[in-house]
Amino acid sequence: MPKRKKDAKTDSVQRELTKRLLRLKVNGEIKEVATETSKTLLEVLREDLGLTGTKHGCELGECGTCAVLLDGEPVLSCLLLGVESEDVEITTVEGLMEEGRPHPLQRAFADLGAAQCGYCIPGILLTAKALLDRNPHPSRDEIREALSGNLCRCTGYTKILQAVELAAGGAEAR
Ligand code: FES
Ligand code: FES
Repeated sequence: MPKRKKDAKTDSVQRELTKRLLRLKVNGEIKEVATETSKTLLEVLREDLGLTGTKHGCELGECGTCAVLLDGEPVLSCLLLGVESEDVEITTVEGLMEEGRPHPLQRAFADLGAAQCGYCIPGILLTAKALLDRNPHPSRDEIREALSGNLCRCTGYTKILQAVELAAGGAEAR
């Protein structure tokens, strides 16, 4: 038992030694945080900055729940270190509102009831935002392709595709 206490203390000292001050630009604000250099961006966002809208899924780059935007492009925050995320503009779902109002994608998802448990939705909203920013009127196939890395266990995807089309100003269903 005493040995375990010593190991825990050693671990804690080692963690302190590997900490670094990160300066991140998140949702338009500069955030400074002292954190372990081994932490992923996902862990820094959720554990150090309290931005729990970014969801923790597989940690293997396979589910898309952890997607955030880096300079407007979707990335999987479980595959990137926090220390690799300085000097870029990070957007999380908490930064999706525009002038205090829900983003058109958020309104469309709410209007169509496109979220069920909601766990996949932050990653899908951000991936869809990146798509609409570069292609304001995507086809159903283009939306499907853009969201192909975002898994949803609940909805069967149809309402999600319809919601992106609605946000793009298209018909509710094509
Ligand atoms: S948690 Fe990052 S892809 Fe699954
Ligand atoms: S709404 Fe539940 S995983 Fe997508």
